[in-house]
Order: sequence, then structure tokens, then C-alpha cells
Amino acid sequence: MQNNNHGETDRRESAAIGRRQFLAGGIAATATIMATGVADAAGRVRKVPKKKPNPAPPEANKPVPEANKPAPEANKPASEAKPPDNLISSAPVLQNAAARSMGVAFSVTADASGWVEYSVSRKMTDAKRVYSGGAGLMTVDDKIAHIRIRGLSPATRYYYRIGADRIEYRGGYKMKNLGPEMDAKVHSFTTLGAQASGSFCVINDTHENAQTLDAAFRKLAELKPAVVIWNGDASNTSENFEAAWKVFIRPHVDHPEYASDTPFMFVRGNHDFRGRFNRTLERVVMARDPEERLPEYSELGRNFVQRLGDIALIGLDTGEDKLDTNPRFAGIFRMKEYRELQTKWLAHAIASPAVTTARYKVAFCHIPLFDSSRDANPGDLMPADVAEGFKKDYAAWQRTCAGLWGPHLAKAGVKLLITGHQHKYRRDSPGNGHPWIQLVGGGPNVDPEHAENFATIIEGRLESGMLAVRVHDLANSRVVDSFTV
Ligand SMILES: [Fe+2]
Ligand SMILES: [Fe+2]
Repeated sequence: MQNNNHGETDRRESAAIGRRQFLAGGIAATATIMATGVADAAGRVRKVPKKKPNPAPPEANKPVPEANKPAPEANKPASEAKPPDNLISSAPVLQNAAARSMGVAFSVTADASGWVEYSVSRKMTDAKRVYSGGAGLMTVDDKIAHIRIRGLSPATRYYYRIGADRIEYRGGYKMKNLGPEMDAKVHSFTTLGAQASGSFCVINDTHENAQTLDAAFRKLAELKPAVVIWNGDASNTSENFEAAWKVFIRPHVDHPEYASDTPFMFVRGNHDFRGRFNRTLERVVMARDPEERLPEYSELGRNFVQRLGDIALIGLDTGEDKLDTNPRFAGIFRMKEYRELQTKWLAHAIASPAVTTARYKVAFCHIPLFDSSRDANPGDLMPADVAEGFKKDYAAWQRTCAGLWGPHLAKAGVKLLITGHQHKYRRDSPGNGHPWIQLVGGGPNVDPEHAENFATIIEGRLESGMLAVRVHDLANSRVVDSFTV
């Protein structure tokens, strides 16, 4: 199988921590922390002086010596006056769709407090503004703004635009709000809910492949789904913010607004756990709204149950593809507990009206829950890496999750399970212990050399009272499979 690097030690894993990559507009500029260049939003590198160690804070009430005060900007020669960078450095990304809330993320180039203005009117009449952060301290961040809009009406179209207040921070009592900077473009989204309409589309295992992303985003713009499920392995290994930013906020393809008008629901894949930064992925991809789950499931920020009309969408996370005891994981993975907690959540979730009243239930997880091949590693062997008789040293499918979740999915009446991970499209018929159709989405390729591992978009929509599924082969521009549930 081509381009399948699940079992490899990604060379990025050895990249020195502490290096930062500033990537924008398709131009990469790398600088160490002590380097003297930073890139602006357009990828141009400007010079900044080396930072001296922070001086000790002045004693209370002691006047700041005149010599320590910054020279007033007006006294600088005009040639030294530098126009500020654009504060907003990406289009908005709709990250978590729900019936009554929506998450909006965008990146910034300096300390800022981001906000969203939204309205049911295209002209933005009576627009409301929501700032980043909840009650108490508003969020100030020099890289990203996350805004969660709450209190929305289900199945309703909203128009919105983004902006941010530039904050000059010189100390706890020395802050200045330098005023708002806005992206004037008005985008829109439609909330989910039992009355919502439209289709869902699934992409998976894009693995930062620019060609594949380009083809996928182009096709999605044509299909116009109500929501996109990004079913794992969006990334390879993310060591720092910039790496994850490049995956989720500003993919380096010519579709900067890829998720500005169509919300993306993220289902984590095994690669999305890899790398130092993926331990704090919420810095880039917001967790789902805590209001969606009970306090005992507070750690499950990636699971979801949402309605798209008569379809209940159920999101699960199969976790890493090796056992927690694998030496590569250094004893700092707890996928066993994570999967068990999701089992409890699932039992609760399928009893909710959002599921029980839905005509169709569709579940999503990255690693398949079934494989008929005898040499397909089920991921629960001790130790998985050295078990003999299997083609791969990682889970081709997840027998543990199948055992934990299968009975609940069957009880809920799930008829379709959409997965990925194997990098080769496949449809499995229902069978004993798995009474649903299982789709395994394709690989990260659109070039003819890897024809077997073609990338897919799996599209589902209600047609004539049935759930119609079409599988688009992005490499060969054809519908490779279609059926109704
Ligand atoms: Fe993958
Ligand atoms: Fe995977």
C-alpha cells in the first residue's frame, strides 16, 4: 500500500522542539526563537531586534526612569515608522457545527481579542458581537482567536464577519486596546438540527497532501454539503502550533475559505495524536461545546451527536493505532481508558432524543471496526508491534472498540458506519456482530501512480425518503460506489 506511514517513525518526530516555523501564503520561513526575522501575514520576513531578557518589574509606585520609557512614535524618523502587520491572517474556519452553537477560528499576527459579529440578515442588521472567551477575562492571544457563538436557533442561516481588537500588552496594568481591525467579508453558516436539510460529506486521511486537499476542497465546493466530517489523519505529526495551523487553519492550497461557509466536524485519527502539539490540539481545533455533554464526560471534547434533519450523526474516536503499552508511547497514552469512557458516553448518547427520533443513524470513527482479512491486525495484541502473522505492525481495525461500542451502535439502529485509516476504499456488508454497512474511505492520493489508493469524498443525503450514499473517487473524477440505506 502506498503512502501509508502509520507504522513508520515520522522523521518530523525528531525535529528539534523549540524551532518555530512561520508559514504563510505558500512561502515557508523558518527561524529559531533567537533569530531576528519573523514573517508577516503575506509571508514576507521583517527584521526585529533580538530580545533582551525581561527586566524585573518596577516596584510599585516607583516612577519609571525616563531612560526606560519607550521613545514616542512621533519622534522617530518617518523611515523607521513601520506599518503594523495585518492583524487577521486567515479566513474564518467553522469548526464545530451544532443545532444551537457554532465555533469560529481564525489566526492573528499579534496580541488580539477576536470577535464575531453575526445576524440573520445578509445586511448584518442588528448584528450581535461575541468575543473570544466567556465570562471573566476575555481571551488575548497572539496566534489565534476562537469564538463560540451560543444561543442560536436550529436549522437557521446566519451571516457573520470576523474582527479583532489589537491589544498592546506591556504589563498587568499597562495594556492598551488599539482598536478593532475587521475582515469586512460577510460569510454565512446554517445551524444543524432536526429540521436542517442538505447533505453530509466525509473526507479522511488527507495527511497534509496538498494535491488531495485541493481536489477535495474543489469537489466540496461543487457538492455544497451542509457539513463536512473530516474523519481523521488530517495531519501527519504536529510538533508545534504552526504545523497544526497549516493543517486546519490555513492549508497550503488555493482554498483559504475552505471552511468559512461550510462547517467542518473533526473526528480524530491516530496521526492526529502524534507530535508534541497534538497534546494541546484545542489551541487550533476547538473542542466541542462543553454544553453538549454531561460533566462526567468533560474529557470527551471530540465526540458528538448532532442532527442533520432525519439523520443522526454520531462521532467517535478510535484513538491511536497501537497499544498503550507500546514502547514508542513511553507510557503516556491512555487510549484504553479513553475508549471505555466513550463507551459510557455512547450508551447515554444513543438514548437521547437526537438519536432515538432520527430515522437514520450514521456513525463515524477513523479506524474500522471490522475487517474480514485474517492478516489484518486487530490492534489488541500484546505487543502489537511484534505479533506475527499480520501484514502491519499497527491496527488495521479496532477490535477493542468494536467490542465496546458495537452493541450500543447495534442497539441504536446504526445502519451505516463510515471509517478510514486503511487508505483504500472498501464497502463491507452487514454481518454477524456488525449489523451495519461499513465504509472505509480512500487514501491520500489523487495522482494516477497510486490508483488503488484514490482519495474519496463520501456523500450522504436524503433522497425520496432514503439515505442515498455516493462515493466520489477524486483521482479519477468518477462516482465509484453508490447505494441507498
Ligand atoms: Fe491515514
Ligand atoms: Fe490512520
